[in-house]
Amino acid sequence: MLLSKTRLLLIAMLCVSINGFAQKKTINQRVDSLLRLMTLEEKVGQLNQYSGREVTGPVTDKKTNQLNDIKSGMVGSMLNVKGVKNTSEIQAVALQSRLKIPLLFSLDVIHGYKTVFPIPLAEAASWDLDAIRQSAHIAAEETAASGVHWTFAPMVDVAHDPRWGRVMEGAGEDTYLGSQIAKARVLGFQGEKLGGLDAVMACAKHFAAYGAVTAGRDYNFVEMSDHQLWEQYLPPFKAAVDVGVATFMNSFNTLNGIPATGNSYLQRDILKGKWAYQGFVVSDWGSIGEMVDWGYATNKADAALKAIKAGSDMDMESNAYRYNLGILVKSGQVDVKLIDDAVRRILYKKFELGLFDDPYRFSNEAREQKVLNDPSHKLIARDVSQKSIVLLKNQNNVLPLSNSIKNIALIGPLMKAKRDLEGSWIPQSDTTQVTNLYDGIRNKVGSSANITYVKGTEIHGKEQDDFAGAVAAAQKADVVVMALGEDWDMSGESKSRTDINLPGRQKELFKAVSATGKPVIVVLMAGRPMIFDEISDKAQSIVYAWWLGAEAGNAIANVLYGDYNPSGKLPMSFPRSVGQIPLTYAGYSTGRPVKKLSDIKYKSAYIDMVNTPRYAFGYGLSYTTFTYTDMKLSSASMSKSQKINGCFTLTNTGKYAGEEVVQLYIQDMVASVVRPLKELKDFQKVSLKPGESKTVRFVIDNEKLSFYNNDLQWVAEPGKFRLMIGSASDDIRLQDSFDLK
Ligand code: NOJ
Repeated sequence: MLLSKTRLLLIAMLCVSINGFAQKKTINQRVDSLLRLMTLEEKVGQLNQYSGREVTGPVTDKKTNQLNDIKSGMVGSMLNVKGVKNTSEIQAVALQSRLKIPLLFSLDVIHGYKTVFPIPLAEAASWDLDAIRQSAHIAAEETAASGVHWTFAPMVDVAHDPRWGRVMEGAGEDTYLGSQIAKARVLGFQGEKLGGLDAVMACAKHFAAYGAVTAGRDYNFVEMSDHQLWEQYLPPFKAAVDVGVATFMNSFNTLNGIPATGNSYLQRDILKGKWAYQGFVVSDWGSIGEMVDWGYATNKADAALKAIKAGSDMDMESNAYRYNLGILVKSGQVDVKLIDDAVRRILYKKFELGLFDDPYRFSNEAREQKVLNDPSHKLIARDVSQKSIVLLKNQNNVLPLSNSIKNIALIGPLMKAKRDLEGSWIPQSDTTQVTNLYDGIRNKVGSSANITYVKGTEIHGKEQDDFAGAVAAAQKADVVVMALGEDWDMSGESKSRTDINLPGRQKELFKAVSATGKPVIVVLMAGRPMIFDEISDKAQSIVYAWWLGAEAGNAIANVLYGDYNPSGKLPMSFPRSVGQIPLTYAGYSTGRPVKKLSDIKYKSAYIDMVNTPRYAFGYGLSYTTFTYTDMKLSSASMSKSQKINGCFTLTNTGKYAGEEVVQLYIQDMVASVVRPLKELKDFQKVSLKPGESKTVRFVIDNEKLSFYNNDLQWVAEPGKFRLMIGSASDDIRLQDSFDLK
């Protein structure tokens, strides 16, 4: 197409601004000017996202030549391209397009880029918002230094089902904790300001209710009341909006019969309507095209029509927008205003990132080298790794281990593992950077102890491997440390399991070793809550170490030897049996609650298992002990505009300095909608020296008492409330009640 003189002039003016000169216009004005120059095809191009050579989903049926498409302005963003060299090469192609609109590069930086941090579920166990924010920030620094502008994180899906492999990517089962962590992660990724060279765009995903996929099977359907959606599943997304998350990703699941990707209620009414969200929404991988497989769209054209109408702005890897949106506009089925709105949202972010001023501003190889090799990053990873470890059992204070122990047996398939400790979603696995548990312990004890290592069995080993060797090593040892769990590919996307027991023959290996009568400390490594009853019953100590990343071995050794006093608390309930799932501490009384375990007839119970989890939400031990005393409330009642100030004394009554996560739960005793038995409404991580006491203060306001009533109004209803303060959801130490007038 020949360009008019005016258009050429406008393009020339735009290029001037691309080169970094006078930027007097606001971003909105710049977006509008650019939009006016764009053809329909170029607009559609901005809504199209391709994956680079690496794939993180099923390959679509496209027959396109990506570089040609980029050159002709038919691509707005690439995922799975990383590194300054690669991103610059592709950016250079985009800058050959008519309007020279730079590409956005995006990647799944879920728990670290080069420095591998603990998986998000593990970090959630730290309940340490500063540490979580810092971890996200280091990941952002490394990502941005590698030429990538955008991470597909945080995943803020609340999940009550550990069969779902993606629990590893989230913050666990609780809406309040999940919302606080969502904010910390977004702020960490996006830094002080979008556009900073140490910041990337965050992406709140997967909108919405993906964490509730039926039966824990990935990509499955979700049927859920509005009430549950608004109260449990949406708040972490809203929290992300409140702190300015740049983008959203929609989701593979249906919600009450409508695929999330084609769901106007979610994307237009709630996100862009009620919440007035100004960022853009990317589809999940191929999820626009998958609406055909769901039986919700007849073909990709129909899927594109439904997705754009519903508010999905960018098409990740479906090729549905690329080939259909132009035709749909020309045939009058899609209003071009919808396209303009989506393009505007995307261009706005490109301007905000400064890409029009300098498309290569994230592309400096010297900076890349410097940031990726910054030695402080590993120390920060070690710190958050230690904080993420949860001590589940410590019979007779077997832990911490004394430096005087002479003979140690190290047993199990994960003792020398490296790749498994990184977990899934690693942009670039580099096992040379991982300290495994064997090396962590070895470094710690040096030559002061004799270490015998026997693998014993493989993670998935079906046959008995070297049980005899393991037993012999245990017999000669003063103490045994076993490392058991899942391999890195057993939790994550598309890794749902029906059986969340330890895989292979690891349980038998434990039984054989434990039968020696030696003290056995079991370190469990996994991407989800597992079931390990026998170990719970018989091991002397259990350390839940998730997948902690590069510093796993050092962090765990620090905990085993008491150089770090464990302070993690479970962010998800650990079931006793798969039959109890879905499981959450925030359950309901029912009309027939179990009051005595000996009396379950006609009660809401199982005849073969108690209702309670093996380890409850919020549970985790320390090497020291804490007492909670002297709770005082400023008043026994409040009006909606008033607050109650409360306080209590927390004392470290043990021998070690330590940190306690104090948890505040509330129950609305009678309401117009049945309320959970307890809901987390606040928490603090308090650090105390031995013998030290601190006054912990809290405030109860109307917000903490509110819920969605049957008309979906956020209200607090007058009546009695129970206040519970404790060390875990099942370990309440102080209780009181008050009235809302
Ligand atoms: C599919 C996953 O659901 C999503 O979380 C991820 O960001 C994309 N693939 C891109 O890899």
